[in-house]
Amino acid sequence: MNHICSVAACLQLLVCVFALSPVRLFVLAAEDIDDHADASSGEIEAASNPPAWLPAVSVRLLELLDIRLENGSYELPRLMYSYEALEPYMSERTVRVHHTGHHAAYTKKMNSILSRMPSADAVVASNPLQQLMNLDALPEDVRDAFRNQAGGFVNHAFTFFVMGPLDQSVEVADQGPSGKILDLITESFGSTDAMKEQFSGAAAKLFGSGYVWLCLENVAGVRRLTITENANQDSPLSGGFRPVLGIDLWEHAYYLQYQNKRVDYIATWWQLVSWERVGLLLDAWIETEPADSTASSVEEQVGTTPPDDTPETRDEL
Ligand SMILES: [Fe+2]
Repeated sequence: MNHICSVAACLQLLVCVFALSPVRLFVLAAEDIDDHADASSGEIEAASNPPAWLPAVSVRLLELLDIRLENGSYELPRLMYSYEALEPYMSERTVRVHHTGHHAAYTKKMNSILSRMPSADAVVASNPLQQLMNLDALPEDVRDAFRNQAGGFVNHAFTFFVMGPLDQSVEVADQGPSGKILDLITESFGSTDAMKEQFSGAAAKLFGSGYVWLCLENVAGVRRLTITENANQDSPLSGGFRPVLGIDLWEHAYYLQYQNKRVDYIATWWQLVSWERVGLLLDAWIETEPADSTASSVEEQVGTTPPDDTPETRDEL
């Protein structure tokens, strides 16, 4: 796994804090944007409610998800495994096309949007994780495009990260969650099987393209896990959610191997979940959680909808 050196991380954290400060917003608003004909008027809306834990967690997540800035552009995050490593549950071709085609395209288009923003260097350096958590701070005329492209970039980073090949030294039946993540699953859903049933049900019923996530929430100091979903490439980060596990439900994620059988893909996908890396994401969120956290519950979030009771499954095109 690639690690960002500590000095670079500290410098990035300082840039992040500055990028979201009132001073930063004033500088952005005052800058000459003549070189950005298709950029905004320079008016930046102040964040309505930026989460206090945003800078610290984004640095840790950048490291985990292998999100790296090179020469002013974000690199396509590397996979933690080879393209053929997920066989037979996910074919080499499926993973390769998904990563080098789709994820790479979102990376390229996000970089293009970032390069057209006022003060591109500072905007890029503040990192897409933070920007998705604070979309209102972006210029209005690029906000929707950024939400789609950076959402695709970050959503794929999360969903590729939480997959991995089976550990051949451990029986398949024993390769489930353990430790802290198991405790939270049990407290939140009663059992791992109950969580899987609810998660899979939401994934099967999701209409169109999108994602289903298992997210950490903290209500009045009590941690629990909750299942949420996002349409298209909206990010759970934009709704204030803290994802620890997610499944890509765009057809490009599975069609080459499973065609229109989304339910089969979901059932098999559980064999690919790396509970070790799910635990790393959980630790990242918990370690950066403010002591007096009262992060909002599902009902208080915006931009993300809980699973509904839509009866359709995804066995059709
Ligand atoms: Fe995808």
